[in-house]
Parts: sequence; structure tokens; C-alpha cells
Amino acid sequence: MTILLTGVTGLVGCHAAIALVKAGHDVVTLARGAGNLSTTQRVRQTLQAYPGWNGAATHLSRASAVGGNMRSVLCGLDASDRDRWRGQIEAVVNCAGSVTFGDRDSDLNVNTDGVLQLLNLSHDLECHRVLHISTAYVPHGNSPCRTPYEESKLRGEQILQEFSAKHEIEAVTLRPSIVTGDRRYGFTPTFNGLYPFLRFAAIYWGRIGHLAPEDWFPRSLLRTGTINLLPADMLGSSIVEILDNWDAASPILTLINPTDWRLDDFAETVYACLTAAKGCAPPENGRSKEPPKRVLQSLLDLYAPYMEVSPGVHPDSGVILPGGGQNALSNDQSWIASLIDWGIETDWQEPI
Ligand SMILES: NC(=O)c1ccc[n+]([C@@H]2O[C@H](COP(=O)([O-])OP(=O)(O)OC[C@H]3O[C@@H](n4cnc5c(N)ncnc54)[C@H](OP(=O)(O)O)[C@@H]3O)[C@@H](O)[C@H]2O)c1
Repeated sequence: MTILLTGVTGLVGCHAAIALVKAGHDVVTLARGAGNLSTTQRVRQTLQAYPGWNGAATHLSRASAVGGNMRSVLCGLDASDRDRWRGQIEAVVNCAGSVTFGDRDSDLNVNTDGVLQLLNLSHDLECHRVLHISTAYVPHGNSPCRTPYEESKLRGEQILQEFSAKHEIEAVTLRPSIVTGDRRYGFTPTFNGLYPFLRFAAIYWGRIGHLAPEDWFPRSLLRTGTINLLPADMLGSSIVEILDNWDAASPILTLINPTDWRLDDFAETVYACLTAAKGCAPPENGRSKEPPKRVLQSLLDLYAPYMEVSPGVHPDSGVILPGGGQNALSNDQSWIASLIDWGIETDWQEPI
């Protein structure tokens, strides 16, 4: 299948691309250049950074790139690119978006107007299948949106539904919970969601390693909070499965971890991983000061809402619960260790 994919330079999209090309699909990525890098160079560098290719160069050759910007009309694809791909694209997969959790930010437009431009482009390319990545945290029924991010994702879903009804596009929305790098390598090109906390703990490990988590993290949140994490390899394989077994009769699917991770247990796991991690400053017994409260507070201001509730499966949604076999999901330490190791190895810097 030939697939047009957005968001390849981000966490979700790069793992979608990896899973799709490994499954034998051809992927045309719609991306932006950056700095001196052309779109093609940037996409190539992002995908090449994944350590799991095992020399399979043929996989990578299935990914090509076109330059575009989802904030522009028809995503900024020029007429020659549109002519080149018209009638060739069998499905569009939208993994682009903004996960800005701060104030109402114009970046969030990509979650709304960007979706509309991508749908216009799909229509122009005569592609009738769209798989859109939303979030398991869109509010349910009359519940209010808790953040501008949620509002933008909900509106994006509505735009998709309205457009698909009008233009005979089959649309499937996939709602994952909090996505992390894959379980084996911890690979990610970006560090948002859970990562600012892992980064904080790693950077200040020298100061907090000898303290109990409740000595620096809000106790009530630690006792009652949970997080629902989903590894990107599982999201990637679900995207492949949805495309391979396309069923427009299930237009909304939720993909969450069947087991929330209790924050106190999760903190214990992070402590164990940081204790074992190479390249992390050893705890400064006795001499340590607490880590900067202001940094931690600014993270909590943005992300605490996603530790206070468990993502539910709405009545309007089908559900994919990670099953057994090879893909079985367990909240184990090796998964978190791989995320932390990747962060330390890359110095928590986004490469491109
Ligand atoms: N991360 C999670 O935990 C999570 C969970 C559930 C759902 N999701 C959803 O998954 C989507 C991707 O999230 P992510 O974590 O992968 O974010 P990310 O790592 O920040 O990546 C965002 C991607 O979107 C692209 N993008 C943003 N604005 C664009 C524009 N105007 N034109 C073209 N591309 C644009 C970015 O390209 P540039 O590199 O050029 O900026 C990047 O490739 C979002 O819609 C998010 O709501 C994420």
C-alpha cells in the first residue's frame, strides 16, 4: 500500500513510519525542512537514527519525502507533487500535531486547521481513507475540555467527521494514551509528554537520588496519581493493523494500556532505572539540596491533569487493548530503562 504520512519527525509519526515500512508499505512522508536540511535529508536522518533497522536498508528505501506545511493551503504541496501522487495514495495517516500543553498557543492550529488542510489534500489526491491520531484524553459527552490541547484535539476529530461525511472519505480516529519511545531501544526524536519528568529526574539525580520521592514530588499526587503509558512500537503495529484490516464501520478506536501505572510504583521504577543508568550523576548523599521547585512546578502545571485521571474508553469508541503473544504489554522496568538510556545517550536533545 502507498501511504501519505504526516508527523514523521515526531515521536508518533516516526514510529508509524518505521512500522509501516517494516510491514512492506511504501510511505510518502509530508514534512518540513529545518535549518540547512532539506525535507528529504531531515526525514532520512530522523529515520536513520532508529537503532532497530539491523542493516535492512531496503526498509528505509520505502520511505520518501515531500515538502509541506499543514498550516498552508493543501498543506503547501506544490502542483507537481500533487499531480505526481494523485490517484496513487491509498491511505493518509495523520500523525502530525502539536502537543503544546501550555497556554492557548497558535501552534495548536495544526490540530484543527491542519487537519482540515490535510483532508482537503486527501480529497485533491483522490485518496478516500484517512487514519487520524487523536488522544485518549478527549473529553467524553458533556465533560468540559481541561486544556486548550484537549479542545484542539476534540475539534480536530469533529472536523474529520464533518469532512468525511461530506466528501465520502472513510475516516478512522485512533486515540492513544501517553506515548513513549519503543520498549527495546527507547527511540524517540522528540521529548514531550512523560519525558520532561524523566529528564528532570535524570538531571537532578545527584540531588534527589538519596531522597524519597515524597520528599520532592507532591505527596497527594504521588499517592493517588496514575499514568497510562503506551510504547510507540505498539502504536506503530496498531496503525499497520488498522490499515491492513481497514474497517470504516469502527470509526473511533481507543488504544490504551490496560493497566494504569500508579505514580508511587512508577517513581520506584524510575529510581531503580536511574540507579542502574550509566552516565547519571551519583546521588550526593547528605550534601544535596532539593531540586529546583520552580522547574518541577512548571512541569506539573502542564502535565498534572494527565496524572489525575485515567483515560477511559468512551461509549462511541471501539477499543484496542494490547493483547498477548509477542506484543504483550507489561509495565516493566526494562521499558523505562530503555527510555532513560536513550535520553541520557542523546543528552535529552532533539537531534534535528
Ligand atoms: N506523544 C503522545 O503522548 C501522544 C499521545 C496521544 C496522541 N498524540 C498525538 O499524536 C500526534 C503527534 O504527537 P507527537 O508526540 O508525535 O508530537 P511531536 O513529537 O511533537 O511531533 C509532532 C509532529 O508534527 C509535525 N508538525 C507540527 N506542525 C506541523 C506543520 N504545521 N506542518 C507539518 N508538520 C507539522 C512536526 O513536524 P516538525 O518536526 O517540522 O515540527 C512533527 O513531525 C499529535 O496530534 C498528538 O496529539 C500524542
